[in-house]
Amino acid sequence: MDFQLKSMRLADAARTAAPALLVLVADGFEPGEDAVSGLIARAQAGGDFKTEAGALLSTYGAAGLATARVVLAGLGDGAAAKVRKAVLAGMAALKGQPTRSLTVCFAQPADDAAVRAATLAAGEAGYVYRTTKGRVRDNAKKDEPRLTEVVIGLPDARPVRAAFDRAVGVAAGVELAREWANRPPNYATPTLLGEAALALAKLPGIRCEALGPRDIAKLGMGAFQAVAQGSRQEARFIVLRYDGAAKSDAPVVLVGKGITFDTGGISLKPAPEMDEMKFDMSGAASVLGVFRALAHLQPALNVVGLIPACENMPDGGAVKPGDVVTSMSGQTIEILNTDAEGRLVLCDALTYAERFKPRAVIDIATLTGACVIALGGVRHGLFASDSALGDALMAAGDQALDPAWRMPLDDEYAESLKTNFADVANVGGRPAGAVTAAKFLQRFTSAFAWAHLDIAGTAWKGGAAKGATGRPVCLLTQYLLDQAGPAKATRRSASQAKKSDKGAPAKRKRG
Ligand code: BES
Ligand code: MN
Ligand code: ZN
Repeated sequence: MDFQLKSMRLADAARTAAPALLVLVADGFEPGEDAVSGLIARAQAGGDFKTEAGALLSTYGAAGLATARVVLAGLGDGAAAKVRKAVLAGMAALKGQPTRSLTVCFAQPADDAAVRAATLAAGEAGYVYRTTKGRVRDNAKKDEPRLTEVVIGLPDARPVRAAFDRAVGVAAGVELAREWANRPPNYATPTLLGEAALALAKLPGIRCEALGPRDIAKLGMGAFQAVAQGSRQEARFIVLRYDGAAKSDAPVVLVGKGITFDTGGISLKPAPEMDEMKFDMSGAASVLGVFRALAHLQPALNVVGLIPACENMPDGGAVKPGDVVTSMSGQTIEILNTDAEGRLVLCDALTYAERFKPRAVIDIATLTGACVIALGGVRHGLFASDSALGDALMAAGDQALDPAWRMPLDDEYAESLKTNFADVANVGGRPAGAVTAAKFLQRFTSAFAWAHLDIAGTAWKGGAAKGATGRPVCLLTQYLLDQAGPAKATRRSASQAKKSDKGAPAKRKRG
């Protein structure tokens, strides 16, 4: 999606020949003399539109307007969450008649948070998965325009331009995360995921390495190997690096679960909805998305991304319930359930993270069905051994409208992981399944401040709206930007320079 930010009053919006116009109207709206104001005032007087959040009115061919299709959406007090909902609803109302370009115009002044929310929501609503949709033979459909440009308008664009630029970078990250999570498991194998990561290394400031089965064996990642051994697809251990600060600056390490398909292994999952286990690499996809955003934003900090990627399959060589394996940390693990594979690939990646002497390690994983039961699709499960890190992630989630919820890590929850045959078992019982999974991971994190995001409920939607959400790219980028020192303006990508300079004042500090 190509985003633009423009200074635009309603009189300007009335004159633009945009194919479609979405007007965001907050409480206290005072109509001017222009045609859009007139439309809003008439609709309000007639009782067909209110400025309250959730109000929506689709109109066509209003007098004096260059644009035929106009949707009015109420913002209430204009809070970011309401802006987000209004843009999603407004764009849903326009979906029936797709256009190449859309103008989203604030009727009143809007702050950083509102512009950011509008930009990200427009990107979200505008994304359409098409990679494996096939060639459309039906000519009518083939010529259907697709939305490629969103113009965000407000009376004065100058004060919000830095926030807008940031949002554009984050939106690109969200889109990449959604795209990879959505791809079918035969189009998103560990090898292809590795290639996607290597492609990111073409962007400024990013390096990448994708290790294969031999390297993984040499590192002693016995737990990761145990999961991968039942599949014909080669495993990959992906190491991404973004260097935005001095070498001496300890990095933040992100670890993304990259199970490109989770059958459960020998502890086979039931057939219904098993296809959704293609989304079991959503943690990995979110790490790719964050790196895409980092390349755009160029914040002054160092970040490492680690992705253990493999399939969890049952075959003659697959790991069996009861097998004991030795993790990279040296701890032995009794695999009582091969479907609890996420923690097995993650524990070796967490041990690998030690070599970076990180300031914080955050793993992101579609880890447990129990977390779906606990929190549903609204908030991520957030576990943190370091309270400052937990607080920072919690705050970042709330600010980025990508919220999490703190979960406990009392040692009593680890009791159920005890076994007579190894240092630890890979499953406890059914009670507190999301917590016992986190307690398992915590055994591998003694060397650093650690947090774990269980995104099993939030990474994708099922049913008719089946598809990846791109969460928690917004939370993570918000957290990372909060951690960054003052930004450098030295290594901007060409595309970013081109875009963000459109209509910008000559000299501008990058935010
Ligand atoms: N990938 C699943 C978790 C999952 C299940 C996410 C459903 C979203 C929806 C994970 O690998 C898994 O299978 N976990 C098991 C753990 C159990 C065997 C202790 C689960 O949650 O059932
Ligand atoms: Mn599983
Ligand atoms: Zn899984």
